[in-house]
Amino acid sequence: MTRKILVTSALPYANGSIHLGHLVEYIQTDIWVRFHKMQADTQCFYVCADDTHGTPIMLRAEKEGITPEQLIERVWGEHMRDFSGFNIAFDNYYSTNSEENQQLASAIYLKLKAKGLIEIRTIEQLYDPVKEMFLPDRFIKGECPKCHAKDQYGDSCEACGTTYAPTELIAPYSAVSGATPVTRTSEHHFFKLGKCEDFLRQWTRDHLQAEASNKMEEWIGSGLHDWDISRDAPYFGFEIPGAPGKYFYVWLDAPVGYIASFKNLAKKLSAVSGQPSAEALFGEFWNPDSRTELYHFIGKDILYFHALFWPAMLENASLRTPTRIFAHGFLTVNGQKMSKSRGTFITAESYLAHLDPEYLRYYYAAKLNGSMEDIDLNLEDFSARVNSDLVGKYVNIASRAAGFIHKRFGGRLIAAEKRRRPEEEELETVLLGAGEVIARAYQERDFSRAVREIMRLADVVNQFVDANKPWELAKHPEQETRLHQVCSEMLNAFRILSIYLKPILPGLAAKVENFLNLPGQLNWHDLKNYPANAINTYEHLMTRIEPKQIEALLEANRESLQAAPTTEPHSLARHSEKQQHAIQPIAETITIDDFSKVDLRIARIVNAEQVEGAEKLLRLTLDIGEANTRNVFAGIKSAYDPGKLIGRMTVMVANLAPRKMKFGLSEGMVLAASGDAPGLFILSPDEGAQPGMRVK
Ligand code: 2FM
Ligand code: ZN
Repeated sequence: MTRKILVTSALPYANGSIHLGHLVEYIQTDIWVRFHKMQADTQCFYVCADDTHGTPIMLRAEKEGITPEQLIERVWGEHMRDFSGFNIAFDNYYSTNSEENQQLASAIYLKLKAKGLIEIRTIEQLYDPVKEMFLPDRFIKGECPKCHAKDQYGDSCEACGTTYAPTELIAPYSAVSGATPVTRTSEHHFFKLGKCEDFLRQWTRDHLQAEASNKMEEWIGSGLHDWDISRDAPYFGFEIPGAPGKYFYVWLDAPVGYIASFKNLAKKLSAVSGQPSAEALFGEFWNPDSRTELYHFIGKDILYFHALFWPAMLENASLRTPTRIFAHGFLTVNGQKMSKSRGTFITAESYLAHLDPEYLRYYYAAKLNGSMEDIDLNLEDFSARVNSDLVGKYVNIASRAAGFIHKRFGGRLIAAEKRRRPEEEELETVLLGAGEVIARAYQERDFSRAVREIMRLADVVNQFVDANKPWELAKHPEQETRLHQVCSEMLNAFRILSIYLKPILPGLAAKVENFLNLPGQLNWHDLKNYPANAINTYEHLMTRIEPKQIEALLEANRESLQAAPTTEPHSLARHSEKQQHAIQPIAETITIDDFSKVDLRIARIVNAEQVEGAEKLLRLTLDIGEANTRNVFAGIKSAYDPGKLIGRMTVMVANLAPRKMKFGLSEGMVLAASGDAPGLFILSPDEGAQPGMRVK
């Protein structure tokens, strides 16, 4: 039976450029899709769209003096250009601002309403009286109620890490107009997620990676809050049926965009004669009893939306739910968050102006293993790996054999019956024998394992070349047949490796198909087909990365302070180059007695978790010996994945007066280093230190 698969990547917002962080996801998904498209008996569709609604897009358009429709149309074009530049092959790339999406979002909402899952409540919110609009938290600024730092956002303080409600800010002002916001009430529509608890408990157990499913269990355990799905005018989005002046919150219609993009694709496909009708194809994929598979690739930061809201919406709207949700981690560059001042906030467009997209696809593949761990793009390692693996080990096989086959043998590989000596059989057997392991690795999204295995095979082929030395054989006319055998075997091995690498390197694979004169014949079921055609002349398939290319790329992305837009003077001041390298002055001298008042203890982090609603904080449970545990809220969320902290030893201030925070009581403090440069580093004791030991 044919497998029918629909795959999506998260929809990028239509107000920003695609950068290397986004590409982790699109490249990961594209590799997975391409692998499936290479399989016989598999029909695979890959759809995506721009996520076009919401306040930031509305305000951005206004600032540019254009309509939101003009903005999203322009950005759609830019996104398409960038994705195709990286060989991301969507079957459809659509927009959430489409007729299909409006109709589907409304229909879903009405179903939820009919089921009693929508409730209208009056809430209080801050309102900009000049701009005449309600303000999302990020558009309210003011003085931190705790440390009095100025110009902090409405949800948390960047200076001291405290989180608060926007109403707690001192001297709040609207980031849109500068006006002082006032409190106003308004009716909002809520999706009663709490009523879906039983369904979600079960669903999240079976459709997520283990780490994600544990997280969901925790979130469900701490209580599912109803979800505010409406926003007041002015808002760029879809008006809610039967509720004039109320709009769907962008996150309500964004995932519906997956369905809408598919619906639009179904319409396009059905226009081709002999294809099923758009309705039939749509129903086959979206009816509740669908036997097709549906996979969403997303970043771990949007799990809440995809693993809770989304399945609950689909289930209650009588649509099929996803087969699996695949979450991935974030990208760091050279071990740190992408940074404009270091030039590591690299846009897709500028990357493509300097480097081959296949390099990055390969490097990401070599790092991705199907988990939610963050991946690091270390630029030195990136060059070294591409140069040694792709150019040194793989492409070299073809370049060393092609000349001889061309000049000496009229471009033809040796006839199949004259092909080999026993050891070559062994070479091909080794190469083909790895096919299943490689296929399984792709299927499981463990691309790093696939890459390791393929490079192991490339090593085997290179050993064969070194053992047979075609350049030596070429000097001896009596070795002509042997030379033909060896070079043919090399090119056949190169063909097999190219099939294995094709999901990762589609651009290179297309060049290889041309060089080997095998158009469209590098599929999984072609693995055993020894080529009978004459090959074409060899042309460079890939060149080495030169250090100057990387330097030029960083330079092009380095945003100097002066060149940066001046709309947010305060946050820019905090990130200035000068301050980044400054050492904080040493504090006032204290006596040993002062110091010994601080009771520092070794602690083991026995649990670490996100705090719902807190932007900077993680909740840590610390074991400080003798069954003594402490609950500590630490402002280290930006630097640490909580899962990775569990089990780690650190140092805490054990006698700090407990502090009541919005999220609970904090009983101490974990020691972490930070400067003006980005990054936070918690301290670890040397091996052997035990929880509870005093630090002096
Ligand atoms: O986080 C984001 O970038 C969102 N635009 C993702 C939306 S994914 C889906 F739900 F539409
Ligand atoms: Zn503060």
